[in-house]
Amino acid sequence: MELTITEQIEQLKTQCLDCNNCELAHTRRNVVFGEGNPESPLMIIGEGPGMNEDATGRPFVGRAGALLDEALAACRIGRHHVFICNVLKCRACITENGRTRNRPPATDEIETCTPWLEKQIEIIKPVVILCLGAPSAKFVIKKDFKMTQERGIFYPTKYARYAIAALHPAYILRQAGQSYDGGKSLLIADIEAARKKVIEAKKEPKLTLF
Ligand code: URA
Repeated sequence: MELTITEQIEQLKTQCLDCNNCELAHTRRNVVFGEGNPESPLMIIGEGPGMNEDATGRPFVGRAGALLDEALAACRIGRHHVFICNVLKCRACITENGRTRNRPPATDEIETCTPWLEKQIEIIKPVVILCLGAPSAKFVIKKDFKMTQERGIFYPTKYARYAIAALHPAYILRQAGQSYDGGKSLLIADIEAARKKVIEAKKEPKLTLF
């Protein structure tokens, strides 16, 4: 008998939690597979786990996660409505003088990890993908994606009928005053656009006969 979408995602998660395909397996505390509703038409894809996500095994649970939750709530979206995950499933970090901090993932780490994301997308088949931050948009939309010029625009992609990119909540948190407020408003506007696109897409005629 064919597995349900939820069963397929659970099966993939079990495999992903055991991943040893790159060096990050030696430094991570937890694989952050992603969570939410795998039957959702809206998938949100961030960059990669940070300290809090690594500690808990859950995506977007730190300060950036709190801002994301606030922006989602402004659009009347709860975590249970969407599936949230990251391009990278393990934290990329560096320890210097006894202090550990995040670092950008290496190209080969991204290449080794993204088959997990591709399998997630293949199972979930989202109608709309919302990319948070440039690394996600570069993977989902196009390699030379430019956040300042191209956020808030829908693109057709091989991964979903529509993909749109928004500023990463962690980037917004680094802004002060008006830039923070402006960034947060843009994030809310882009989430709202994604929500509306899901509703619009439901009304579009299906191109297949069956
Ligand atoms: N930033 C991300 O891109 N993903 C997370 O899960 C947390 C912070």
